[in-house]
Amino acid sequence: MDKLVVEGGGRLEGEVAVAGSKNAVLPVLAAALLTRERLRVANAPDLVDVSSMVGVLRDLGCEAGRGGDGVLEVEAPDQPSQRTDWKLVARMRASFCVLGPLVARTGRAEVSLPGGCALGGFRPIDIHRKGLEALGADVRIEGGYVIAEAPPGGLRGTEMYLGTAFGSSVTGTANVMMAATLAQGRTVIQGASCEPEVVDLGHCLVAMGARIGGLGSPRVEIEGVDELGGADWTVIPDRIEAGTYVIAGAMTGGRVRVEGCRPDHLTTVLERLREARIPHEVGADWIETQAWEPRAAGERPGATDITTHPFPGFPTDLQAQWMALMTMAEGRSIITERVYPERFMHMAELARLGADVRREGALALVCGTPRLSGAHVTASDLRASAALVLAGLVAEGETHIHRVYHIDRGYERIEERLRSLGATIRRERDE
Ligand code: EPU
Repeated sequence: MDKLVVEGGGRLEGEVAVAGSKNAVLPVLAAALLTRERLRVANAPDLVDVSSMVGVLRDLGCEAGRGGDGVLEVEAPDQPSQRTDWKLVARMRASFCVLGPLVARTGRAEVSLPGGCALGGFRPIDIHRKGLEALGADVRIEGGYVIAEAPPGGLRGTEMYLGTAFGSSVTGTANVMMAATLAQGRTVIQGASCEPEVVDLGHCLVAMGARIGGLGSPRVEIEGVDELGGADWTVIPDRIEAGTYVIAGAMTGGRVRVEGCRPDHLTTVLERLREARIPHEVGADWIETQAWEPRAAGERPGATDITTHPFPGFPTDLQAQWMALMTMAEGRSIITERVYPERFMHMAELARLGADVRREGALALVCGTPRLSGAHVTASDLRASAALVLAGLVAEGETHIHRVYHIDRGYERIEERLRSLGATIRRERDE
């Protein structure tokens, strides 16, 4: 296992290019199961989660891999295998996205209940199940596997509501939308996820021949077709990676230009940055933090509350990083987690670095302090790891972030990118 060692105190400076979106590319790759033809996916990030999805697809009988041009190509066989092994799905929750396409194309799917980041609590799959059942599938759980079987004659379109107590479900919408592309007749999904990653998947499905309307709204309509074909698709830039580097620039007081991103996917985050008095500029496809003195008396970031919500609300996947920023703010901020009310595992570790943080249920109270100091901390999940790296960049002395393998699931070579911005960070074997 590796650890990251960060020497804090330096100011980041320079340009960083954002990779393709992890949460967009994973369901897009699963969509290849819907057709016999080849799906070519450009801008697919080089991440452990992407390799895991390629592993799942190969296990199902697909040919999958990168061509010489870096484009990820997937071609499903006429008869893909219908069972996805526990060992593969346990690595990554998003591999559950093969359920919808498999049952739609082959009439049956057996997919192990997923693993992936625990995010402090149980992550149910009832919405995926509800949607597939509404399409006529028989869905049951046996031996840790979800078994879905289409009725004779295949899935049938219908109207359904897929909201949860915590808003819409991203991969739930993705799974059901993919299945509905090959169902007979029209499917209407109410309470659909409006996340850019779901919209990207929808546009890719349209490029493959699907008929989908209402993408980006909570009401998505899908007119089933007999078959889909291959396509060339370029995934959107990763808004969470972009937001993480913007916060890194903000915290270190440096001029960091985040290139190739979609500022319109980060509207709420940019609004909060303005509220926090973080100097920055925004262009068509870039965001640039401006040099400032975040540690100087009277200059520190303004304490700014956030509440996470599904898109276009503040993303839960940037909550931990925002908390890292707020640990150095002037005053007290309230962070409310409405998507995953238990997603606060980073708090105890930020406290080890000297942050003044307290939790009351789904609320975290953060009292900004003028100084953090390096320590040994343990990463619990992907975004918690990112928050600890950010805090390490401003803490005095060395911060050792253990169990950092989570970070490679969602950030392409993060230490190289941060080093190119002037950070002192290295990866070491953790004994
Ligand atoms: N939920 C249910 N029932 C379900 C599904 C979800 O109650 O069947 C609840 C969840 O417990 C949660 C809320 O609905 O409270 C939203 O969960 P969602 O289904 O949207 O999460 P997901 O699809 O499993 C994706 C991202 C996560 C991101 C969430 C929320 C992928 C591969 N993963 O997960 O990304 O946090 O949406 O935006 O798209 C990450 O990248 O670090 C990450 C964890």
